[in-house]
Amino acid sequence: MERIAIYPGSFDPLTYGHLNIIERGRLLFDKLIVAVAHNTAKKTFFDFEERLQILREVLKDIDKVEVDGFEGLLVEYAEKKKASVILRGIRTVSDFEYEFQMALANKMLNPSLETVFMMTDARYSYLSSTLIKEIVRFGGSVSSMVPPLVEEKLKEKFRKILQEDNR
Ligand code: COA
Repeated sequence: MERIAIYPGSFDPLTYGHLNIIERGRLLFDKLIVAVAHNTAKKTFFDFEERLQILREVLKDIDKVEVDGFEGLLVEYAEKKKASVILRGIRTVSDFEYEFQMALANKMLNPSLETVFMMTDARYSYLSSTLIKEIVRFGGSVSSMVPPLVEEKLKEKFRKILQEDNR
């Protein structure tokens, strides 16, 4: 039986921290579906289509990795995709509580679905999508934190917002 894992997230935007988990995680499974959440609790900077498009472009040549979007409950999506594992990255102790709660809730909803955690590489443990957006907003470089396409899209969107604000 094919072992399929889902790596879900809002990816707003995708960072080298996420990529590190994808690169290592795909080696553990037959297929890794990187699943972009349509409706997250957060108000996102990039809309759903933009986040999906960025992931598709950046991950297009990575073997065993598929990009998809989902709406609604993650457990239902996992069932539809015949996935047996949810993959999540943990950066620091502070991530633990949130991840623990989510893993237990998902387990209650579907006991046959396992959540597997991977420690994010130490080089990226300080990263967050919020931090990256803030740096770009104030004109800083995030080239060591995100793929070139992501930096380009961030700058482009902030430029647009600024132009609209100045009208
Ligand atoms: N390296 C660096 N940073 C990382 C990282 C890594 N390996 N992994 C996550 N992060 C950061 C992200 O940049 C992001 O930062 P931010 O908080 O500043 O935006 C944060 O950690 C979390 O983002 P992400 O990994 O994209 O996940 P998420 O927590 O936004 O995703 C869902 C949550 C989508 C998985 C969850 O809400 C969900 O399953 N929703 C569907 C509805 C559902 O089923 N709900 C019930 C769940 S119990």
